[in-house]
Amino acid sequence: MTGLPDLPAGGAGFVDHIGIAVADMDQALALYRDLMGLELERLEEVSSENVRVAMLKLDRTGAVGHVELLAPMTDDCNIAKFIAKKGPGLHHIAFAATDTETVMQRCRDAGLRLLDESPRTGAGGKQIAFLHPKDTGGVLMEICADPV
Ligand code: CO
Repeated sequence: MTGLPDLPAGGAGFVDHIGIAVADMDQALALYRDLMGLELERLEEVSSENVRVAMLKLDRTGAVGHVELLAPMTDDCNIAKFIAKKGPGLHHIAFAATDTETVMQRCRDAGLRLLDESPRTGAGGKQIAFLHPKDTGGVLMEICADPV
């Protein structure tokens, strides 16, 4: 039997969540939960970002993978600005890490810019950091580890 290849240090080897900017949380839940059938795990307000967040399970066991709906709470928060500029839609992809700082350092060493100097606390208390989309082919990428 062959095992899985080793992961680079600090990586966890799966997509933690897909972040989607939505203008209206109720409308978005009607689509993702009621029509598409994803189970709502929790609703949360992240006051530091002025966003309401809904986490829906991609996998019914909740073992891996979520859709993260992000609705602005103010007109000047990052998600409101994103929607004003590009409209609602796909916002970021979050890659799971066992250690956010280790993955950040590997990306820094490879010459990628980070939007966060050090890991910060995001939805669910996770330790998160974003890479600059200009260095990732236009995809806003989040590195995301469970709280320690
Ligand atoms: Co996210």
